[in-house]
Amino acid sequence: MQVTEAILAGTAVSPDRFPKDGLPEFALVGRSNVGKSSLINRLAMRKKLAHTSNTPGRTRTLNFYRINSRFYLVDLPGYGYAQVSQSERRRWGAMVENFLANRESLAGVIHVVDLRHPPTADDRLMAEWLRVHDLAVLVVATKADKIARSRWESHRRQVEATLQPSRCVVFSAETGLGRDQVWTWVVERLSG
Ligand code: GTP
Ligand code: MG
Repeated sequence: MQVTEAILAGTAVSPDRFPKDGLPEFALVGRSNVGKSSLINRLAMRKKLAHTSNTPGRTRTLNFYRINSRFYLVDLPGYGYAQVSQSERRRWGAMVENFLANRESLAGVIHVVDLRHPPTADDRLMAEWLRVHDLAVLVVATKADKIARSRWESHRRQVEATLQPSRCVVFSAETGLGRDQVWTWVVERLSG
C-alpha cells in the first residue's frame, strides 16, 4: 500500500470522541511495549506518527490514525503492564473491551505479539476473547530483527499453535519485514 496521507485524526477515552465519519477501522491490540505504535509508524512509513517509547504504558488513549482518507488504524493502550494501578488498568480494560465489542465500524483487529517469546497468558486470553467476539484477527509477531532468522519459522509455529489465528505474519518495525503482508490483509478486509 502506498500511504499518501497519515494523520492523527483523534484521541479518545470515551465513545463520544470516536470518529463519526463511519470509515472502517483496524484496531491494534497487544501487550504493553510489544511494538504496536512502532508497527503503525512502519505501516505508514512515518517515523513519528505514533509515539513510541522504551517505557511500557506509553499509549493511554485510543488514537485514531486516518490513512489515505479511507480507513483508520486505531492504537489502543497495551495490556499486561504491572506498574499501572488497579483502577487505571480496569478503566483501560473497560475502554478497550467496550470499543472492540461494540464498535460498528471495526473491520478487523491486529493482535501484536513478540516473536522472540511464547505468547503470554495475557496474549492467550486476548486471543480467546477476540475469538468469542467473532472478530477478524491478524496476528503479527514482531521484533523479528531481534532473533536469528533461523529461528523465525519455529517461533512462528509456536505462536500459531498457541493462539490459532487464521493468519500470522512475522514482522519487524525495524526492517519493514512483513509490512506488505499486513497491508494485503487490510486491503482484503476493505474490499471484502
Ligand atoms: P505501549 O504504547 O506502551 O503499549 O507500547 P507499544 O506496544 O506501542 O510499543 P512501542 O511501539 O512504543 O515499542 C516499544 C519499544 O520496542 C520501543 O523502544 C521500540 O523502539 C521497540 N520496538 C518496537 N518494534 C520493534 C521491532 O520490530 N524491532 C526492534 N528492534 N524494536 C522494536
Ligand atoms: Mg504505544
